[in-house]
Amino acid sequence: MLNIAVKAARRAGNIINRASRNLDIITVKEKAAKDFVSEVDSEAEQAIIRTLREAYPDHSILAEESGASGNSEYQWIVDPLDGTTNFLHGFPQYCVSIALSHRNVVTQAVIYDPSRNDLFTATRGRGAYLNDQRLRVSKRASLAPSLIGTGFPFRQVEHVEIYLAILRDVMKGSAGVRRAGSAALDLACVAAGRFDGFWEFGLAPWDMAAGALMITESGGLVGDLAGESRYLETGNIIAGTPKVFVELLQTITPHLTPTLRKG
Ligand code: IPD
Ligand code: CA
Ligand code: CA
Repeated sequence: MLNIAVKAARRAGNIINRASRNLDIITVKEKAAKDFVSEVDSEAEQAIIRTLREAYPDHSILAEESGASGNSEYQWIVDPLDGTTNFLHGFPQYCVSIALSHRNVVTQAVIYDPSRNDLFTATRGRGAYLNDQRLRVSKRASLAPSLIGTGFPFRQVEHVEIYLAILRDVMKGSAGVRRAGSAALDLACVAAGRFDGFWEFGLAPWDMAAGALMITESGGLVGDLAGESRYLETGNIIAGTPKVFVELLQTITPHLTPTLRKG
């Protein structure tokens, strides 16, 4: 199943790479405020779905641009282009993210960065890889020397003040904070030890499913705002090396409203 996911991700990556050479002619729509979708997102998603359907006609699919279909206990969770805004600006930080969940447990994951030809893969219980190299989260054991990734709550304006208070504390308490603009690739960076931790609110399952498996298979921890594992439902995620995860959670929790504290 991982091989099929890799095939699908590479096909989407080729479409994205080809389109990146001529950004000026791409048609873009604004789905909602600051939420852009281009013809490239849709084309890449169709290529992925065709590849998955060819191999597994009975499996369910949840894909960002075309929604949910099927009622199998196997569900593919697809973000055909994570980091669309970066892509449209020629800022080379975006990826294809594909995860397979079986009875609501993510078992396979692929994140493909087409501009660097970096292929991240993970299988539950069998570790995570970048190309052929086994991944481990970094050895950093506290926030102070850590590089932390994050995403701005640019669509949830109600969370901006809370977010900024958290950002202030993480900025003061860590070696640096980065907002790279592709949540799935950010999570892969935690798995690869490039980031020591990450947090973001208001994500969708397709932003997180593959990256979260990659982190746990690399020895890291992933949780929601209650430190539990409902992030795919709540959309709020904290991740990191085991110790950085705990310190990030402790830094974030005091700022949360009672509702956000539930996860
Ligand atoms: C977005 C990116 C971004 C995150 C947003 C996502 P998209 O995905 O992952 O980093 O901050 O919340 O929606 O729309 O480019 O697939
Ligand atoms: Ca996304
Ligand atoms: Ca997307």
